[in-house]
Amino acid sequence: MYQSKITGTGKYHPEKVLTNDDLSKMVDTSDEWIIQRTGIKERRQSDLTKDEFPSGMAYHSAKEAIENALLKPNDIEIIVFSASLPDMLFPNTASCLQDKLGITNKCACIDVNAACTGWVYGMTMANSLIQTGVYKNILVVGTEMTSTFNNWEDRSTCVLFGDGSGSVVLSRADDNDTAKIYDSVLSSDSSKLDALILPNGGSKSPVTAEILEKREQYMSMDGQVIFKNAVKTMSSHCATLLKRNNLTLDDIDWFIPHQANLRIIETTGQLLKCPPEKVIVNVEKYANTSSASIPAALHEAVIDGRIKRGQKLLFAAFGAGLTSGAMLLEF
Ligand code: ACO
Repeated sequence: MYQSKITGTGKYHPEKVLTNDDLSKMVDTSDEWIIQRTGIKERRQSDLTKDEFPSGMAYHSAKEAIENALLKPNDIEIIVFSASLPDMLFPNTASCLQDKLGITNKCACIDVNAACTGWVYGMTMANSLIQTGVYKNILVVGTEMTSTFNNWEDRSTCVLFGDGSGSVVLSRADDNDTAKIYDSVLSSDSSKLDALILPNGGSKSPVTAEILEKREQYMSMDGQVIFKNAVKTMSSHCATLLKRNNLTLDDIDWFIPHQANLRIIETTGQLLKCPPEKVIVNVEKYANTSSASIPAALHEAVIDGRIKRGQKLLFAAFGAGLTSGAMLLEF
């Protein structure tokens, strides 16, 4: 069996900043409420005139990840693309990204939708493809344009989300390399499908004039159900990974949880008994960018020198489904 190694990371966030004060001019909210409940200070918002839809944002993060991996776009053998809302229903967004990156090797392209957990699902699938010798270089992308499914008139959700992209190149590690993905765990609890849902716009309920009139083309969420399940499931998946790999939190250098909001991050860390100084947090700048949040936070910490080769990392994600996943690796 081969081992996988993260060889390159990249991220992209749109230029346009939307502060809490900006939002308080759109809905009945305040900077104080948003910071106290979520820790979020600002978020980025895509501009379609600047191609900041999913494949357009992913172009930037993927290009950076491929360059940092010291590869060329044509070295990529499969693109695994996580997006809750793709560029279009088909062709898939991975294929749109292949085109944007100028990849001419006809590599495989697949979209994965597991909401905010999509990138961890994609990484787990990519790791298996490398371990079994199918591919050597895989681009795993998490990119989300949450601004399209955010109801900008609903204060209980619109303050939480932002747009962005994070990419990683996962490659076959050399025989003498210690870097590897130790383990991962994935789950989904379909007993709570309604807790975070965008029911309209698919085959079952196409968008109609009536839906638009009632403004039902947007997501809805039961925040407290999501909160309780997110902290419980993410902390329990991490504990499972540590236990079955005979490791403790002392062995972990950095914990990168899904950047949903600061209270979820802090409570998950407390349940896991993870020291706050080991937790990577950037939710204050970008809000919840769904499946882009972990790869983008990873890239930031690699670039600013916090994350170094040889360190052990723990990722945990949670999202609609209710999907969840965690991954343990040596960088
Ligand atoms: N500004 C001001 N007041 C608000 C706002 C707002 N933006 N949003 C809600 N309120 C009000 C509500 O109307 C309510 O008022 P009421 O008491 O008069 O009825 C009051 O604040 C309390 O509302 P709650 O929903 O009970 O507030 P809660 O403390 O649960 O916090 C929050 C809401 C922040 C959404 C919390 O439930 C949470 O963090 N949930 C997790 C949701 C999440 O992060 N989802 C992301 C997607 S899934 C994922 O990525 C993991």
